[in-house]
Amino acid sequence: MSTIAGNRIEVMHGVNLDQLGRRDPAHYGSLDLQALERRIGSWAQSLGLSARFFQTNHEGAFVEHLHEVSDMADAIILNPGAWTHYAYAIHDALEIAGLPAVEVHLSAVSTREAWRQTSVVSDLCVATVSGKGAEGYLEALKILEKELTG
Ligand code: DQA
Repeated sequence: MSTIAGNRIEVMHGVNLDQLGRRDPAHYGSLDLQALERRIGSWAQSLGLSARFFQTNHEGAFVEHLHEVSDMADAIILNPGAWTHYAYAIHDALEIAGLPAVEVHLSAVSTREAWRQTSVVSDLCVATVSGKGAEGYLEALKILEKELTG
């Protein structure tokens, strides 16, 4: 399937997601970030989408990437890691980005510690997918594909 203009997905991973493969596999699975990104990239391609990837452990870099993302993408999948639960600066930067976004968590955040049960970005997202491991990104891609093609 060819990639249509308007189908560029920026997949943004935040703090500690570069450590996948070393984190508790019961929550996060056993894929490392590179393998996860390869899988997401091929799912995107099969849906006629094009995925680009960004990861940082620095909140300011994540914020600055959100400032620029509307020049390079049409929609966002974001897993901000622990920032999800308290980083209001990321909320505000996502609002500035102004793109359709889906929040993804590998683990089932709603059944873990109380502090993981708050998300400061979910009100800006068209959907939140959590607890489905890598497959959660496929679900997010399908949601955004519908959103972008109307
Ligand atoms: C996470 C869940 C967060 O609570 C945690 O801090 C992460 C990863 C997930 O993908 O399940 O780093 O976002």
